[in-house]
Amino acid sequence: MRIAIVPGDGVGVEVTAEAVKAIRAASEVFSLRFEYESLPWSASHYLRTGVTVPPDGYVLLSEFDAVLMGAFGDPRVPDHRHARDILLGTRFELDLFVNQRPVRLMDARLCPLKDRSPSDVDFVVFRENTEGVYAGIGGRVHVGTEWEVGVQEDLNTYAGVSRIVAHAFEYARAHGLGRVCMADKSNAMPEAHGVWQRVFRETAPRFPGIDARHLYIDALALALVQDPSQFDVIVTNNLFGDIITDLGAALQGGLGVAASANLHPGRTSMFEPVHGSAPQLAGKNVANPIGAILSAALMLDALGHTKAATALEHAVSESVRAGQGTPDIGGSLGTRETGDWIAGAITNARPEI
Ligand code: IPM
Ligand code: MN
Repeated sequence: MRIAIVPGDGVGVEVTAEAVKAIRAASEVFSLRFEYESLPWSASHYLRTGVTVPPDGYVLLSEFDAVLMGAFGDPRVPDHRHARDILLGTRFELDLFVNQRPVRLMDARLCPLKDRSPSDVDFVVFRENTEGVYAGIGGRVHVGTEWEVGVQEDLNTYAGVSRIVAHAFEYARAHGLGRVCMADKSNAMPEAHGVWQRVFRETAPRFPGIDARHLYIDALALALVQDPSQFDVIVTNNLFGDIITDLGAALQGGLGVAASANLHPGRTSMFEPVHGSAPQLAGKNVANPIGAILSAALMLDALGHTKAATALEHAVSESVRAGQGTPDIGGSLGTRETGDWIAGAITNARPEI
């Protein structure tokens, strides 16, 4: 299988190296064969060449079996043009309509809420990934004057909403999860989010064993902090999913440990940590590689290598519980040393053959 690696900017470079290290360790144990190709798309590449993504770039990506990305963002590109083309462009052009972001607390010590254990914080957010306010519909006039106007439309199509809501329910059913919560803001945005209401009303009855609940997004934010144990699967739009998964990252120990999969089932999909490029941490060997390694686990899982995926997850959990990690989660190891520890744990957990 061929994997494209797009490390990107800042700490993205460091954490993807550790993710590849973990995949290599698992490949040894489970006799998997991967070829890696690194693509240079990044702020530096853009500043040097004027190119964010080459003209055939998205087609090139779609010819790989999967894409592993690092992070994008650089103070030298203040309008984030390359980040939009590389990250959002890939989501849109490859039609990766599912943004799956698991929220799983690995050690009670990492939860900012009091008296919460790993069994209380274990849910998955499905964020719609191709529509909403990210669709890029809008514009600005009279820029720089007192009459400046900015408009950005919230795009919600019946087809687009249907496929993500159905995906969330199907995931719940396939994983034996009994509760799906859909969050929108249909009280204040009855037109745009009326589509979500209709889809939810039509979809839920097709999954009779599953408790289907609706919350407005503000109420969901409250509930996630008050009692995260009431959630198994959450499905919401692009923007709300973006926001609520940062909250989710906090519940499980911070941005450094949060992982994501950008999926179009059956097609080339893309995997990336939830965190950004953290320029202030770049090159210092301090960034937490766990978000990237868990994203690699999601990739292995999507490629059908379930055991290898589980091996990565177990090794990461082990490292967290043993305190063998980076300073953001209370450890004293560097990025590379954390990656080494995790790769070692994968190798040592060699299954009896
Ligand atoms: C994320 C990020 C991106 C998003 C940014 C970098 C455009 O915050 O993946 O969550 O908003 O989707
Ligand atoms: Mn985000």
